[in-house]
Amino acid sequence: MQLLKLNKMEVGIYPGVEELAQRVSDEMIQQVIGKKSSVICLASGDTPKRAYEIFVQTIINQSVSLAEVLFVGLDEWLGIDQTNTGSCYSFFEERIVKPLGLPEDQFARFDALATDSREQCFAMDRLIESRGGIDLMIVGIGMNGHIGFNEPGSSWTSATHVVSLDETTQTVGQKYFQQKTEVSKGITLGLGQVMTSRKLILMASGERKAGIIQKTLQWPISEDLPATIVRRHPQSMVLLDRQAAGML
Ligand code: F6R
Repeated sequence: MQLLKLNKMEVGIYPGVEELAQRVSDEMIQQVIGKKSSVICLASGDTPKRAYEIFVQTIINQSVSLAEVLFVGLDEWLGIDQTNTGSCYSFFEERIVKPLGLPEDQFARFDALATDSREQCFAMDRLIESRGGIDLMIVGIGMNGHIGFNEPGSSWTSATHVVSLDETTQTVGQKYFQQKTEVSKGITLGLGQVMTSRKLILMASGERKAGIIQKTLQWPISEDLPATIVRRHPQSMVLLDRQAAGML
């Protein structure tokens, strides 16, 4: 592993996806062992899949109790049914909730079909607040530099909100669905919540992320490039495989 320091922030570069995933899983394990009532917010998407697999296996093998942990899903496609395999709900159901046998209320996710999506936002904010805030947040990065569904130009102080997804997100997002699916709106935790999480891990892998990672770490910090928030966060890490770090 190669370790860079950017101001105080750790940038870890791993030989491949497996080593990267192992490190992220280790961080998650450390978190749930160190604080039994941790609140952990997780992104879905392709990048963290292997990390979650290793995490689940480790929890099972080592019989770690998650009884007091609250997991929170970072975002969701509005209007997409929970049973749709492209939904974030289903992603977590199949990868974390079912394999760990977690009670549904231990993994807070958005109801993408709710008639009042603003109430969904308030309910998520209230829940997180009532649990004392987010301890660990694991996020990926979009091709446009988004975090969660916080698209370029999003406010850095926002709480949970509904978003009109930009064209890149709508186009790239098709990869999660079995057939062409309209995804023009999303619901997401805000960058204010990213910023106030006690620990933030941004992970990226693959050559196609190299350009946006280079901008995130080397371009000016700006709301136009939401992922640059990692450089403002007091306790953040950027964990990459060698390909995603290829342009640094
Ligand atoms: C998904 C999410 C998104 C993804 C990002 C990268 O819950 O919050 O911001 O993390 O679009 O997606 P992948 O990992 O599929 O490249």
